[in-house]
Amino acid sequence: MGTWTNMEPNLIQQNSRSTFASSVMFALLFLCLLGCQQEAAPVAEPASPEQAVQQQTEPAGPKERALAAKQALFDRLSSRLLAAMSSGGPAAAIEVCSQEAPRIASEVSEEHGLKIGRTSFKLRNPKNSPPAWAQRFVEERTVEPQFVDLEDGQFGAFLPIMLKPQCMTCHGPADQIDPQVLSKLNELYPDDQATGFQIDELRGWFWIEVPREG
Ligand code: HEC
Repeated sequence: MGTWTNMEPNLIQQNSRSTFASSVMFALLFLCLLGCQQEAAPVAEPASPEQAVQQQTEPAGPKERALAAKQALFDRLSSRLLAAMSSGGPAAAIEVCSQEAPRIASEVSEEHGLKIGRTSFKLRNPKNSPPAWAQRFVEERTVEPQFVDLEDGQFGAFLPIMLKPQCMTCHGPADQIDPQVLSKLNELYPDDQATGFQIDELRGWFWIEVPREG
């Protein structure tokens, strides 16, 4: 925080060059990530017309519904972030992310008839604190997906989010984050705890509450 003000001018120059390079890298990595994501989840071809009908009419179980909502939120956040990064750079993307991430989560919740959000043991936005039932998983810092029956009859899913290279722009060690990005983060999130992460580290979780039918 604020350490960049002590930088030598030549360091600042170097820094902005590498920031541009890392923005480009980010965009490429993100495209790659989205590409891989699509490949990893092929749509199953129904073997027969009867099966196709059955697949359409059979209601999805709570676990499938939770996973589908997670995928939808992930995809929507990723593409919105990518668009914001490529049009305005990382500092502008933070602004977009701060306004749109909560809205996108409510949108997906409504469309899927459940509640979904993101949380962490090191929060950026204090409003992303976990629901009470997930508190123990946060304390354990679980890296395994958790599926639980909740007291009120709902179904809960808690799914880990690992840090990818393209997340480092805004969640990496503070001394590696672009000064403009850092000052934007400080402005919007004065209590930001969500820097200092390394690639492949646990960053947080998606939590989902699925109401049971009937
Ligand atoms: C352009 C900067 C930026 C990038 C890149 C970015 N994030 Fe974030 N992240 C944010 C902001 C801003 C928030 C706070 C959003 C809000 O207010 O809900 C956030 C919040 C989160 C949260 C919610 C918990 C919390 O701390 O509030 C998780 C989990 C998260 N990010 C994971 C990731 C992962 C994983 C990646 C890489 C795929 C990533 N982020 C990339 C800016 C970024």
